[in-house]
Amino acid sequence: MPATAASSARSASLAIDGGAPVSKTPVPFMKVGLTEADIEAATAVLKSGMLRAAKKCAELEERFAAATDAKHGLTCANGTCALQLAYGALLNPGDDVLVPAWTYIATASMIVAAGCRPVFVDALPDTFQIDVRDAEKRLTPKTTAIACTHLYGMPVDVEAVQDLAKRKGLRVIYDAAQSHLATYGGKGIGAFGDAVTYSFYATKNLGTGEGGLVTTNDDATKRKIELLRSHGETDKYLHEQVGFNYRMNDITGAIGCSKLDRLGAETDARRASADRYDAIVGEIDGLTPPGRTAKADGVWHLYTIQMDPAKFTCTRDEFCKALLGEGVPTATHYPRSVTRQPAFKDVVTDHPKVADALAARVLSLPMHHGLGDEQFRIVGEALAKVAGAYRR
Ligand SMILES: Cc1ncc(COP(=O)(O)O)c(C=O)c1O
Repeated sequence: MPATAASSARSASLAIDGGAPVSKTPVPFMKVGLTEADIEAATAVLKSGMLRAAKKCAELEERFAAATDAKHGLTCANGTCALQLAYGALLNPGDDVLVPAWTYIATASMIVAAGCRPVFVDALPDTFQIDVRDAEKRLTPKTTAIACTHLYGMPVDVEAVQDLAKRKGLRVIYDAAQSHLATYGGKGIGAFGDAVTYSFYATKNLGTGEGGLVTTNDDATKRKIELLRSHGETDKYLHEQVGFNYRMNDITGAIGCSKLDRLGAETDARRASADRYDAIVGEIDGLTPPGRTAKADGVWHLYTIQMDPAKFTCTRDEFCKALLGEGVPTATHYPRSVTRQPAFKDVVTDHPKVADALAARVLSLPMHHGLGDEQFRIVGEALAKVAGAYRR
């Protein structure tokens, strides 16, 4: 029988045990460099002297809202501020708010910052997204809203969320920090819910360093967010309400506009990479590619797979260490569910099971718009070699 790439890779010894690595040059985990166009856009603002939020922030708001099928866009300082603005406009202190147990901490911590109680909901075992049936079971008489993260770039089951919200009279806030330009049912994700929040942190699909944006289709919500964003100011030094300074600046706005010019093409490249990874990972027993939400088109901020510890003699962390030795860096999104964060010890009532188990199973492979044939070869061989070496 002819040896397959996988079987010959298996007989080789791991680089962490002194063997030859699959690649001496590591595959870059991400690609965040600025282009000349980005630098020129930022320089033009510096030369103009107009550093505060002005034309470039306004342009980013208009273009980003249009690109995501939303009516209004509001730039802000970062994705955490975006959540705080959306929650501030849509929640009241004392509310119970459904939120995924499997997400980045900010989705939940800003609920606490708004004076509300997060009610943690389990994840779906294949797509990692919020389990809307579990959300319904966790409703309380004080539940007024559901916050959902479109995690790793994949939209949640928007239809199920909107249906639950309609039946139970809930507000819906989508945290799309990782999901710029994702679509559901052929529409941009800005078309759904009461507000959608974004982060433009340096490593996001559109990264400006720090930065954020909220979209909404409701004029009154837009106005509330504008006031919260800038000290409730309705006229010069006239403050109708207490607010914050969560404004963006025009240097950031200019970088955002410049990067938005190529975000569509870069997103297409990520989608093609995810398809190639699906084929590679799907071949290896014990590893599972990420599931996809029906009707959704994700944007693959992260390509996160699951490793079944029952099939291997090593832990996920040992598996990742061996992959790094072969030239494939990985990352863990996330090492614990949000309910296991010490910060929430006083508000957690239980640890939803699927989310809790994911913490020992997930690993993210290199994902960005610059992956090519050679990188897929290295990742494929390294995965097969490490899986072979640790096969139970
Ligand atoms: C899902 C999610 N929500 C919110 C945030 C917060 O965004 P920022 O870091 O811009 O404050 C992030 C950033 O990592 C995120 O991934």
